[in-house]
This record gives sequence, structure tokens and C-alpha cells, in this order.
Amino acid sequence: MTSFLDQRAGLSGKRAIIIGGGGGLGQACAIDLARSGVRVSLCDLNEESLHETEGIIRDNGGEVSASVLDARDPDALGSFFESTDSAFDGGLDILINVVGGTFRQPFVDSNPRGWDALIRTNFIWLLHAIQLAHPRMERTGNASIVNVTSIEAHRAAPGFAVYAAMKAAVTSLTRSLSLEMAPQGIRINTIAPDYIPTPSLEALAPGAPDEQDLRHQISIPLGRAGSYNDFSGCALFLASDLSSFITGMTLHPDGGALASSGWFNWPKEGYLNNPPADVVNALLGDAD
Ligand SMILES: NC(=O)c1ccc[n+]([C@@H]2O[C@H](COP(=O)([O-])OP(=O)(O)OC[C@H]3O[C@@H](n4cnc5c(N)ncnc54)[C@H](O)[C@@H]3O)[C@@H](O)[C@H]2O)c1
Repeated sequence: MTSFLDQRAGLSGKRAIIIGGGGGLGQACAIDLARSGVRVSLCDLNEESLHETEGIIRDNGGEVSASVLDARDPDALGSFFESTDSAFDGGLDILINVVGGTFRQPFVDSNPRGWDALIRTNFIWLLHAIQLAHPRMERTGNASIVNVTSIEAHRAAPGFAVYAAMKAAVTSLTRSLSLEMAPQGIRINTIAPDYIPTPSLEALAPGAPDEQDLRHQISIPLGRAGSYNDFSGCALFLASDLSSFITGMTLHPDGGALASSGWFNWPKEGYLNNPPADVVNALLGDAD
């Protein structure tokens, strides 16, 4: 028997494409959508993680197909969408755009090649993906696009300026397209996560586990790093009919990091919006 929540969500039997669905947050979405009865078609650059995800979904009894490709290649993306058409009867209910990435570099040291890489990885391919999805979604009249951005789309990000600007561009694009696509019954929203340890994120913020735990207690109001479920819960909600009146909006699975906006929860002093005296004195001691 279908549960009350499953009925309200209406996910069972829907068709989803997840771009970057092989690893990290994309894998979490793919597995959870498939567990909810969604037929998923995944693509990813990483063949190994893509096949691992495919295997997990099949072992759970889910329906999945998978293609290795670079989302930044418009021809490959076009062929991938076409390859889903026979299984999906030419329609599409859900598109999750996950691919993105960055590296730390002061803007003044960056160059046009680096800017181009960041713009292509975090922005241009989404334009292609959304345009490819549109005619397929228009046919269904009740579809959902979810773009994965970042907390950095909503605050300053020194050392990551171009990445942050591109995530903000996706947020703006989402708002405009929510109006353009509303008449066709296509909703489009963003998820702006912060600190959910995936292999690529851990490479940007290395550290021993106890050191990481203390950092999270200070900088994330909920006192911990995010989990894959924290993220995929938002994707399930936005993909499902539970969010049927929400479009052009952003969900923030970030443990309160955006709300804290410069306030840190120090172990002894509690919340301060500047470093406590012992930290300042330790730093002054280091400077001697
Ligand atoms: N993990 C976090 O806390 C966090 C925080 C803020 C924003 N984000 C955003 O969430 C998204 C996913 O992040 P993640 O940590 O899971 O990263 P990830 O590097 O694990 O990426 C997810 C998947 O995308 C695939 N991928 C990367 N480039 C690709 C390409 N060009 N073509 C096809 N597939 C490609 C990867 O192989 C991987 O399987 C990104 O857009 C990232 O900017 C993540």
C-alpha cells in the first residue's frame, strides 16, 4: 500500500535525469530518487563512480541507465538526452543539475583560462541542459528542475570569486526562468548547500577529524557537517509534488551557516561576531 507521504510526493514512476549523478551529492540524489520509485538516467565524467551508483540502484530494485560524458560538451549532452527518449517516451519530469567545482586562487593571480574553466564548469552547461530538458518537460506539464548552487552564491567568497559569481548567476537564471517556464507547468529552484563532506570538498578543506569537528561546532550553528541525506532530502522535496507551489526559490541545507553570517559559536564564550580574547592573544603571541 502506498503511504500517505508517498502519495503526497507523487514521485513513483516519474522520470529523472541527474547530471553529475555518479558521485558526491549527485549520487545521493540518484539513489534516493530511485528508492522513491523514480526512473533515473544518470551521466557523469567519472566512469567508476557512475557504475558504482548504477549497481547500488539496481541492487535496491531501482530502474537506472547511465552514460559517461563531460557535461561541458554540448554535443555529448544532446546525445545523452536523446538516448533517454525511448525509455522515457520522449518526456521528462525531473532534472537535477549537480555538476560544479572550484579551486582556491586570489582573483588577482587568476587568468582568462581559469575563468573560462570555472564559467564552463559552473554555468554554461546548465544553459544547455535546461534547454534540452524544456521541450521534454513541456510535454508533461508538471515538471521540476533543481539547480545545485552553493552558500557562496549568497555571500562573499574570497579566493573563490568567479565560482561564487557563477553560482549567483545560476540563482539569477533560476529566478528568471521560473517565470518564463511557469505557464508550461515547469518549476525551477536551487539548492545552496554548505559543508557536506564529499571527496572533492574534503580536498579543499583538509584536517584531522577532531579538528574538523571543533571547526564545525564553531562555524555551523547546528554544530556538525551536513550529510548526504541532508542534501538529498531537499532534492526529493523540490522534485516532488510536496513543493508543487514553489518556484524560483532556494533551499539552504547549510546547518544555519548563511543565517549566522559572521557570528561564530566559540566553545567558551558562545556567539561572538569577532574572535575571543584568547584567540587574539594566541595570534599576537604567534606574531612575536
Ligand atoms: N559538498 C558541498 O558541501 C557543497 C557545497 C557547496 C556547493 N556544492 C555544489 O554541489 C555540487 C556537487 O558537489 P560535490 O561536492 O558532490 O562535488 P563532486 O565533485 O563530487 O561532483 C559530483 C559529481 O559530478 C561529477 N562531475 C564533475 N564534473 C563533471 C563534468 N564536467 N561532467 C560530468 N560529471 C562531472 C563528478 O564526477 C561527481 O560524480 C557542485 O555543484 C558543488 O559546487 C557542494
